[in-house]
Amino acid sequence: MTSPEPRNERGPSSRRLGVLISGRGSNLQAIIDAVDRHRLDAQIAVVISSRPDASGLARAREAGIEAVIVSPRDHPDRDSCDRIIVDVLASHRVDLVCLAGYMRLVGEPLLTAFADRILNIHPSLLPAFPGLEAQKQALEYGVRVSGATVHLVSSELDGGPIVLQAVVPVLDDDTAETLSSRILVEEHRIYPEAIQLILDGGWVVEGRRVVRRAPSASTRA
Ligand code: GRF
Repeated sequence: MTSPEPRNERGPSSRRLGVLISGRGSNLQAIIDAVDRHRLDAQIAVVISSRPDASGLARAREAGIEAVIVSPRDHPDRDSCDRIIVDVLASHRVDLVCLAGYMRLVGEPLLTAFADRILNIHPSLLPAFPGLEAQKQALEYGVRVSGATVHLVSSELDGGPIVLQAVVPVLDDDTAETLSSRILVEEHRIYPEAIQLILDGGWVVEGRRVVRRAPSASTRA
């Protein structure tokens, strides 16, 4: 990852995001809102949906963001679909890719083109409960806390280095729906925060850990 560029106080930020969705897009909306409220110094250059009927597409259009559909149905295999996605992201000069409810595994072309520059949000405290229906898995397992995780994307499902996590309690009368709602509030809070952290640089991946480097003595105030 290259060093961050200086903050742009006027006009759109120079840090360009590509957001990949498949569904309702509430995390996309949280990112849109964080940018609008100047809590996230970035701009969304493009939204890509794997599904033409994703309701998140309307959120993108409402916000005046270009939205593109790249459906796996239109491509013979995952890699050729991913290559189209890479082309769309590159043509929009995207710096960081954010998966936000994107219901497909990321293939090699995308992982290679955006190495350590793809984030995902998952509704559990990884490495617990990867994959689908994480909130239902947590409830059925009987954990007393669950939460949300933002992580760098690797070839392993929900398996890359963790950037941020937030914890929520699991209550006795929770259903998958009530637990999901409580976790979603935290997702919307930590995703923009994690994006900012990654864009700001000053971190390294050591083994499985995303480690923030303390500023050197010469740059400290
Ligand atoms: C979220 O729970 C996210 O953690 C998971 O898929 C869901 C997407 O929701 N990966 P939305 O489309 O952002 O509303």
